[in-house]
Amino acid sequence: MASELTGTIKNHVTRLARYQALETYAARVLGGWLAGIARWEVKQRVAYHLWEDLQISRQLRTRLWELRVNQPDRELPPQLQDAFHLLAMAQADFELLAGVYLVLKAELEKAYQRYIETTFDIYDHPSVLVLRHVLPMRQAQTTWARRIVDELADTGEKRRQVQRWMQFSHAVLAACGGIDGNTPIQEMPTLPPAYGLLLPFVEARRDDRFEVTIGSPAKPAESDHAAYVIWQFSNYVQEMQAAETLATILWEVEGVEWEFYYDIARHCWDEVRHSEIGQTRLGQLGYHIADFPSAVGSYAWRQLFDPLIRYCALTYVIEADSFKLKHASYQHYLEQGDMDSAQPIMYDIMDETMHVRFGQKWVPPLMKHYGYAGTLDDLITACRQIVATHSVAPAQREAVLAHSGQA
Ligand SMILES: [Fe+2]
Ligand SMILES: [Fe+2]
Repeated sequence: MASELTGTIKNHVTRLARYQALETYAARVLGGWLAGIARWEVKQRVAYHLWEDLQISRQLRTRLWELRVNQPDRELPPQLQDAFHLLAMAQADFELLAGVYLVLKAELEKAYQRYIETTFDIYDHPSVLVLRHVLPMRQAQTTWARRIVDELADTGEKRRQVQRWMQFSHAVLAACGGIDGNTPIQEMPTLPPAYGLLLPFVEARRDDRFEVTIGSPAKPAESDHAAYVIWQFSNYVQEMQAAETLATILWEVEGVEWEFYYDIARHCWDEVRHSEIGQTRLGQLGYHIADFPSAVGSYAWRQLFDPLIRYCALTYVIEADSFKLKHASYQHYLEQGDMDSAQPIMYDIMDETMHVRFGQKWVPPLMKHYGYAGTLDDLITACRQIVATHSVAPAQREAVLAHSGQA
């Protein structure tokens, strides 16, 4: 941070630096919890919100760059990270959502309003524009969360837990100097009895409308068009697991450059959209997603490996090897004149092309981060072998084996 800054200017710059970090941490905690959120629609929304949070963070960081702050995380107190580890220690999804949205994000919303009202309206107007632009996102998120926490905490006992967790979350924020960092740093409050970190989740949760299964069914013959469409789009629904895996990476990988979190958050939300592609198409065909079993095995086996393997297996192997089937399906739907099936697939192909590029961008720095001793080729070969051994999705395993010349 520009060290010659004093007084009010320094205070404003420090606040913006905290806000961008708090937005990033909020997204990462939500990522850590994504697999642990049971209700399907809530999970979908949270994945969208964590991507929004990173976009808010990006806008604040761009503004900080204009204010000559090239490394906005450099002077942040270490207590902020401690605070987020504590906020992640909720024991139920409704508690976690209450802490992150109804305490942290609600406080951020108030802080943005306060900043707009109190900064130099002319000299610092670009900051005002950024905050005015992000405030509606903040407000919409908290409004949504109020309703959801109300719905999920549906007994007196759960409501009491929410109250206690919100009090604890307020105390955590106060202990790291408040949202604006202008109160003294204190010792972190004590967790409620028997509370601790549940992350990372070894299993992805589903709500009780779903029959949970490990793997996906085998691909029917293309000639059976109706069965093929249903198979393909119910498989799309299962891409929620890719989102859940990426969300764990968002949480688990510490200390890499900020841009990594931004790309992972986008990738995570894209996979939720792919899952929604399936949901929408099945809906058009008269089905509800809960008419089909919900697979959790892909998430579970990926959690057996560290984030480097998880991410490399997903991008360099699973996604990179998926194009052949997608292009073939696209052609098939065009030939059938089924544009409602063809068009989403082409958008998916475009998204997946970007995801493979993300992998090319971030796997090499992650190899360094994790001290991987081999070459990139060694790692990809190892990941391909891991997918071939562990995958519970027949089409995925088939594509990987075909690539390795084993099919
Ligand atoms: Fe996808
Ligand atoms: Fe993808």
